[in-house]
Amino acid sequence: MAELTISEDKMGRIGWNSKTYKKFDDERAGEYLAIANEVFAPIYPVIARQILDRCRVSEGLCIDVGCGPANLSIALARITSLDFCAMDFSPHILELGRENIIREDLAERVTTVAGDVHRMPFADGVASLIISRGSMRFWRNRPAAFREMRRVLEPGGRGYVGGGLGSRELADAINEEMIRRGADWKNKPTPRVRKKDTAEWREIMEKAGFAKYEVIRDDSGSWICFEKEGESP
Ligand SMILES: C[S@@+](CC[C@H](N)C(=O)[O-])C[C@H]1O[C@@H](n2cnc3c(N)ncnc32)[C@H](O)[C@@H]1O
Repeated sequence: MAELTISEDKMGRIGWNSKTYKKFDDERAGEYLAIANEVFAPIYPVIARQILDRCRVSEGLCIDVGCGPANLSIALARITSLDFCAMDFSPHILELGRENIIREDLAERVTTVAGDVHRMPFADGVASLIISRGSMRFWRNRPAAFREMRRVLEPGGRGYVGGGLGSRELADAINEEMIRRGADWKNKPTPRVRKKDTAEWREIMEKAGFAKYEVIRDDSGSWICFEKEGESP
């Protein structure tokens, strides 16, 4: 993975909140790349395996929404035959994602695409699977975003969206490392089943028109696993 390119004082300015990400510019994209490639690196193969076990989609097109430097697409590509559109609204982070993809020799299967989840640059029904990790908290209109994902999914297509660090052990190690690096790590994940959050999820999914979905809150994080109605082609 990439060498450390980020100084510890820069890490101190990284907060995992929507204000920070409003300006996901060149510099911030580089900061996130360093975290994804160095600190978060072990979570992506674990989450990729969870996606495969829970969604059971291993071929067709997968769209990775808010892909960042494409680490999750890369990890899922390693264990499936899926092709990927790794989509993000930040051109800076996509450029870095492209470097990760080329370094991993996956340029033929993983393409980077600029796009906003609220208006995705894809035709109706093209995706067998939509994945997204750590991006939803920045979306300004979640029901609209899920409606858009429903449009882009093929009948019977699946989705896996949420956030988390894969396991309790990984979360503990990463929390420790982020604090050691002096990051503003206020929102460290503490997956718990909270009735209020589950009710919010349900409202979003119903507004978006999904009838089949499961809310997962466990040591893997906080996720929603969903399916578009209809038979797979
Ligand atoms: C915390 S990063 C997560 C990156 C990656 N999924 C990962 O797990 O490492 C959040 C990403 O979501 C992207 N993002 C936020 N809002 C978005 C939107 N409305 N449409 C597309 N991408 C968005 C940001 O540019 C950023 O790259």
